[in-house]
Amino acid sequence: MSEDTTKGTNKTVTITDDSTGKQATFPLVTGTDGPPVIDIRRLYAELGCFTYDPGFIATGSCESNITFIDGDKGILLHRGYPIEQLVRHCSHLEVCYLLLKGELPNQAQFDKFSSDITNHTMLHEQLHNLYRGFRRDAHPMAIMCGVAGALSAFYHDSTDINDPYQRMVASYRMIAKMPTIAGWAYKYSLGQPFMYPKNDLGYAENFLWMLFGHPCEEYLVNPVIARAMDRILILHADHEQNASTSTVRLSGSSGANPFACISAGIASLWGPAHGGANEAVLKMLGQIGNKANINEFVKKAKDPEDPFRIMGFGHRVYKNFDPRAKIMQKTCHEVLNELGVESEPLLELAMALERIALEDEYFIERKLYPNVDFYSGIIFRALGIPTTMFTVLFAVARTVGWIAQWNEMIEDPTQKIGRPRQLYTGSKRRDAAPIEERQ
Ligand code: SDX
Repeated sequence: MSEDTTKGTNKTVTITDDSTGKQATFPLVTGTDGPPVIDIRRLYAELGCFTYDPGFIATGSCESNITFIDGDKGILLHRGYPIEQLVRHCSHLEVCYLLLKGELPNQAQFDKFSSDITNHTMLHEQLHNLYRGFRRDAHPMAIMCGVAGALSAFYHDSTDINDPYQRMVASYRMIAKMPTIAGWAYKYSLGQPFMYPKNDLGYAENFLWMLFGHPCEEYLVNPVIARAMDRILILHADHEQNASTSTVRLSGSSGANPFACISAGIASLWGPAHGGANEAVLKMLGQIGNKANINEFVKKAKDPEDPFRIMGFGHRVYKNFDPRAKIMQKTCHEVLNELGVESEPLLELAMALERIALEDEYFIERKLYPNVDFYSGIIFRALGIPTTMFTVLFAVARTVGWIAQWNEMIEDPTQKIGRPRQLYTGSKRRDAAPIEERQ
């Protein structure tokens, strides 16, 4: 990160406080792409007021070199590379290297990175006891939060955030161990034995092995399914300052260890407005049932009094198609073809719902399009993954984005602890009476 924040322009923005007549001028900073930002760090000092932006609709929380989204054009770049090209030419581990280190690896760099990750895929054997503390029907995201956070109790040699080597080890450990944590969470829910990672399998293959393998017979991973899983991991890897990534950054800004920060990110991703939407889409499609009911549910979604929303639709940043949704839909057809699924009623229902919504003035006016979660649940179900595991897969994929953004924040010389201000509308100062004097 450079100290100079007025990149590419010496333009400024002047704000006048009409109530006091005071004026202040602030730098207008332009980045490589995207809207310029007003650097308002001196706003309170100059004008004695705060900005007010619940939900951070128009607020940049940091400078970042990792991912860029153009929501109007439906563009997603990771370190400048379009997501469509990364999905076509790279594996998830290559994209992990890119997100962490800023460049795509050559073969030698990839081989070293892949070997390092592979050698961190096992979990401390004592963690079996932590799993055993959960009910069998615990939501696997609860297990993911618990086990990810617990890693800081096992890997003390990679919790010093000021040591670049320890940060790298913690980063590799998180990326390597999340598929194992997720696979074991699934096996625990089934009452089946945990499957250990196999060093001769690729990242996505190993994940599928730990999800679906069992000791009683050889489980051969279908290469087409493995490639589809690898592509799905790429599509979910990083996405600028979304809610869970912002949670990881805010947690990390206090100096918390990386395992605790990732646990916080998992918790935030769990929400149905965020990563939990893929699970919510399946439930919604189940509620709709068949195409005849679509119009009734679209009407509910448009009713401001009705809390029902078309899950998997809409996005804070994309006001055009989420490029990931397009690739996800294509992958959906490929997986279903590979599995010999002639017709998937859920997919047909989802496509009919998409068609009707996209032609509806309410959705057109609000620029509501399918997002990454709209089709992912249908693929996961076709792969035999239970609904409760959908957001777990999202968390496995997003771990590299969280950890890359966490490293970027730690390495930013201008980084401070995140501490937003507020608009206070509570009681003025008043005296407290002892309980015997209260009515
Ligand atoms: C992810 O940030 C990221 O990058 C996230 C993510 C990532 O990779 O990290 O992309 C992953 O979280 C994708 C989003 C998954 N969530 C869903 O699919 C849940 C359904 N979508 C909505 O909850 C909503 O669209 C959000 C949460 C995604 C975005 O909400 P915003 O930006 O705060 O928008 P809003 O709620 O203010 O909606 C604007 C208008 C409102 O109507 P009006 O008040 O203007 O009349 O659009 C309406 C909303 O009611 N609206 C919807 C809708 N989404 C928004 N109406 C019906 N169905 C919907 N899905």
